[in-house]
Order: sequence, then C-alpha cells, then structure tokens
Amino acid sequence: MGKHETSYARVERDFYPTPSWVTELLSKLINIRSKDVWECACGDGRMSDALIDAGARVFSTDVVDYGYPGFTGIFDFTSDRFMAREFAGIITNPPFGPRGKWAERFIECGILRMGNGFLALLLPADFDSAKTRMHLFGGCEQFVAKLVLTRRVKWFGIRQIPACSRRRTALGISGGMSNSVT
Ligand SMILES: C[S@@+](CC[C@H](N)C(=O)[O-])C[C@H]1O[C@@H](n2cnc3c(N)ncnc32)[C@H](O)[C@@H]1O
Repeated sequence: MGKHETSYARVERDFYPTPSWVTELLSKLINIRSKDVWECACGDGRMSDALIDAGARVFSTDVVDYGYPGFTGIFDFTSDRFMAREFAGIITNPPFGPRGKWAERFIECGILRMGNGFLALLLPADFDSAKTRMHLFGGCEQFVAKLVLTRRVKWFGIRQIPACSRRRTALGISGGMSNSVT
C-alpha cells in the first residue's frame, strides 16, 4: 500500500517528507547546480536540503511553517498570489489530496508558474494514466518526461502500515529543459 491509498487516516496536509535519495537521483538527471529552484511545498525541508547539497540556490515555501531553518515563507502554491521571482525550476513532492486532486492542482499551477523554467514533481507512477489527466501529461505541450523510479520509496510519516510503499513513484517533468537535462 502506498501513501496514496485511502484506507487509513491521512497525515494532515499530506505531510509525507521525501527521503533524500529520491532528490539526489533527480539532481543527477537535471542540472540544478548554481540555479535558483523553488521548493514550493517544502515541509520540514528534506527535499530543500538535498537540493542545496546538489548545488542549487533554494527558495523554500509551504502553506505551513514546519520550523525548517531555511524556510523562506508561507505561500499557498495553489492560490492566485503572484510570485515576483523567476526560477530555473520548481521541484517538489506535492500533497496528493482526495483522489489526487491536490496534486492535479499543483501541476496546473506549476505549469502556469514555471515561466521559462521547468516543473519536476514526484507523483505515483500511474498518475498520468487517468484519462481525466491527459491535459497534464501526454496532451500537454509542456510535458517533457516521466522518470520511473525502480526503487520503492518508504515514506516518512507513515508508521501504521508496515510495507507502506509498494506503489512505484515517478518524476513528472514539464517545461524548458533544454539546458537542464544532464
Ligand atoms: C508530501 S509533503 C512533501 C514535503 C516536502 N516537499 C518533501 O518532499 O519532503 C506535502 C507538503 O505540501 C504542503 N502543502 C499542502 N498544501 C499546500 C499548498 N496549497 N501550498 C503549498 N504547500 C502545500 C504540506 O504542508 C506538506 O508539507
């Protein structure tokens, strides 16, 4: 059972921090060294720290302040609020929400917010297979790649399910990647 199964109580706001090896893998595939990256749902900063370790300058926001020392500020990514800065990329593991609706909203907002940069989101590997999500993947001009992880992610914060991460995970990437794919 993965973190997106519905048969157990979800953590509030889907706060499931990402193990650093997942972010390290992404930073081997996308060149983020010396680039400005927005971690737009940073939680306690585990992805942000891994991105910083990979050489990125990271701007870390979330709808809640979890006490991460590098926290830049509260920002609801799905709101209409304007972000005055431009970024080379937006990277996060978004909240999933009921039937994946929050993650869908993150993709829609990310595509609008990414400008000339890229958007890389950690999602369930089958997330793109729903017909209702065609406009976010195969039917989306900005969609570039889906990278499927062959190793399973064990999510922090899920203690009530022993084998909690049987579901595979993928990185969905959209946007201007011409200078970024290594
Ligand atoms: C799956 S956790 C991921 C945390 C972090 N990105 C990581 O991978 O370790 C999802 C995060 O999304 C945040 N979140 C939920 N709704 C949000 C919103 N509308 N705008 C920004 N962050 C949001 C939650 O507070 C939580 O920290």
